[in-house]
Amino acid sequence: MASSIFLLISAFFLFITLPSFALNVSHDGRAITIDGERRILLSGSIHYPRSTPGMWPSLIKKAKEGGLNTIETYVFWNAHEAQRRQYDFSGNLDLVRFLKTVQDEGLYAVLRIGPYVCAEWNYGGFPVWLHNIPGIKFRTKNDVFMNEMSNFTTVIVDMMKHENLFASQGGPIIISQIENEYGNVIGSYGNDGKEYVQWCANLAQSYQTGVPWVMCQQSDAPSPMINTCNGWYCDQFTPNNPNSPKMWTENWTGWYKGWGLQDPHRTVEDLAYAVARFFQYGGTFQNYYMYHGGTNFGRTSGGPYITTSYDYDAPLDEYGNLNQPKWGHLKQLHLLLRSMEKVLTHGSVRSIEYGNMTTATIYSYEGKSSCFFGNGNAENDATINFENTMYTVPAWSVSILPDCFTEVYNTAKVNSQTSVMVKKGNAADDFEEPYVLKWQWRDEGFEHSNKNGLVEDSLMTVEQLLEQKAVTNDTSDYLWYITSFNVKNNDPILGKDTTLQVNTAGHIIHAFVNGRHVGSQYAQNGKYNFTFERKIKLNIGRNEIALLSVTVGLPNYGGNFDLVQTGISGPVNVVGRERLDDLTQKLGDEKYIIQEVTKELAFNKWTYKIGLRGERQQLHDPVHSHRWRWFGDNLPTSKMFVWYKTTFKAPTGSDPVVVDLMGLGKGHAWVNGHSIGRYWLSYLASEDGCSSTCDYRGTYSNSKCMTNCGKPSQRWYHVPRDFLNADDNNNTLVVFEEFGGNPWNVKFQTVTVGSACANAYEGNTLELSCQGGNVVSQIRFASFGSPNGACGSFGAGQCESPSALSTIQKACIGKERCSIDVSESYLGPTGCKETNRLAVEIIC
Ligand code: GAL
Repeated sequence: MASSIFLLISAFFLFITLPSFALNVSHDGRAITIDGERRILLSGSIHYPRSTPGMWPSLIKKAKEGGLNTIETYVFWNAHEAQRRQYDFSGNLDLVRFLKTVQDEGLYAVLRIGPYVCAEWNYGGFPVWLHNIPGIKFRTKNDVFMNEMSNFTTVIVDMMKHENLFASQGGPIIISQIENEYGNVIGSYGNDGKEYVQWCANLAQSYQTGVPWVMCQQSDAPSPMINTCNGWYCDQFTPNNPNSPKMWTENWTGWYKGWGLQDPHRTVEDLAYAVARFFQYGGTFQNYYMYHGGTNFGRTSGGPYITTSYDYDAPLDEYGNLNQPKWGHLKQLHLLLRSMEKVLTHGSVRSIEYGNMTTATIYSYEGKSSCFFGNGNAENDATINFENTMYTVPAWSVSILPDCFTEVYNTAKVNSQTSVMVKKGNAADDFEEPYVLKWQWRDEGFEHSNKNGLVEDSLMTVEQLLEQKAVTNDTSDYLWYITSFNVKNNDPILGKDTTLQVNTAGHIIHAFVNGRHVGSQYAQNGKYNFTFERKIKLNIGRNEIALLSVTVGLPNYGGNFDLVQTGISGPVNVVGRERLDDLTQKLGDEKYIIQEVTKELAFNKWTYKIGLRGERQQLHDPVHSHRWRWFGDNLPTSKMFVWYKTTFKAPTGSDPVVVDLMGLGKGHAWVNGHSIGRYWLSYLASEDGCSSTCDYRGTYSNSKCMTNCGKPSQRWYHVPRDFLNADDNNNTLVVFEEFGGNPWNVKFQTVTVGSACANAYEGNTLELSCQGGNVVSQIRFASFGSPNGACGSFGAGQCESPSALSTIQKACIGKERCSIDVSESYLGPTGCKETNRLAVEIIC
């Protein structure tokens, strides 16, 4: 019965769905062809689980408006199959809905199934239960692994087919990917690795999806797999198969961030330069990794130590706002490249070398020519003579002349606005001053055994130290290791100088002796194996040691990364040092012997208990949390292991919402039961390596242009509006504070454009915009002519048009966006001899 209703319903939808036509996608040595047409494909990565369904339509619209025609995403195995053979495609895991949103916008999709994805995602996308299957070896010729991998890949491919999502069925998916950058690590897997690559290729082929498959960074990709490039630059890349088009699956728009690290930035001048060069040298498919990075909600961040924010300095910021000028400057490039599609994909190519790394590349087709003038010199501008006209190409830039005469675009000349983002108070709070949330709290408590020596709800007791994820299956960050031992009154270990020494594979340890906290330590500087050592005091009789080991994301990259250990690896020793005073007389005053007595505990009986009590009680979820007692008075601060809870009003308007967790230490936060991720404000970004200026010229690396030194590596946490109840005070924030913090300064804010500057060249159209319904309230500065200075300190030059300011005021004040034709005919004559520029600063 249910199935016939389902059939009826689907028949109805079939009937009302607009007809979509199957596309014939193939490729040749020059390009991906769609229905026989060679295409320039400009793509951007948006990972569906790193945003919410409510954000998808606007993210995808902004990508389209930014000139992209394709959206790329990975598929996240451990999110969909968190427990073996139990699948979840709900909420932000609704892959089909995401792809249909892409399709609704008329964009193509690239589906990188992996199912190993790397992506700074927990365990690279592998479910941890996979690690615990006997006999398994990851990413190599191993039947157990290959069986699981093909099972999941088949689930995904079948789902795509069932929903008609491949282009061959009229859907948006034009390309799929199997594996991910295996070529980078194949050396760790010997001959079996080579066979595994062939097996991956066969598996992919066997699905007969009707669209091409890629394998990125796989220089031995078996035909018909297309080998593609990942990196900051890929202009010099050539695929192994001469019949494969030149494709760039990951153009890194910035970089990811780790706890304790600074914010990386990649300038748009450099990014545009890399893209333009790629197309200058015959590229046809280019994907921004990331176009929208988003947020690692829950415990999805990998690393270890990847922050909750996955902003990536991408063209759309973590919250979905335009990251300007990056978004706008690339948009102009995309529109221009797409307008040159025919000549770039069919034209004959010739080049002229001018020396000093300066090259003109000329594409000609059916009597039309388009040119790129590229200057790869990081210091010197180049002036070249091309067909009797002189052109200056700034250092580290590419000029594009679609008719080989007029420069329409130069990667180093940014004509888009630079937005200055601001955080605004929660207007729903009627500007209560000072802003204070009312908090309740509850103790987590520390685990210990009861009178009978038993630990309640423990999992097991074994005479061995176990690897953490093998025990927890990664269902929690937290694992208790508890043991006890007896000490007799004459035991030398009872001395004054007794220490506990614990070797751990990371990432954090909290140690308790006889129910008292003796210390905590976290891995730093990328060294996750460390020794924890503290003085302790033992009792005569029974002593108990409880170690809480905490993981902060599992590794996601490298040969055999899946085997990297976490948790207490041992040895665990109690070391007593005794001064043998009775020998002092014999040896003289200055000399005495210290006798060390070591009690090794690694092979003791260890009791294991997974997770926090509050996790079992589901304190994070308002549906369950009221069942437990919370306290309103004597709010503790700087106290470890405390749960805090408060209610708040949803900020009004449509600007993205963030919560400022300043004052808190380290832990996890939830809004209305939805995880907004781990937080760690007490971990400050290192003091070194930041600079206020950033030279776009020269090869980029992620340590080149960093900001935020000496500050919490992440202070603000995104609260997608999907998580909020719009009506009144009905929103709950719960945090688990692990290290100790102070919640009094926590506040909700919105993020929007506060002001914007631009410095546009004559001949361009300058788009100025605020966002979220906010309008331009003031033109703080405008000069058309030869303005000088930088945003915030612009000044008029020698010559300027007297009417520019009033023209811009008229066009923009009171509007959310306005468009300025940067020309003398619109802004008035300037009397300048050089090309005019417009400098403008608006307040939103
Ligand atoms: C690549 C990988 C991506 C991502 C990127 C860095 O090696 O394929 O998934 O991890 O590096 O952000």
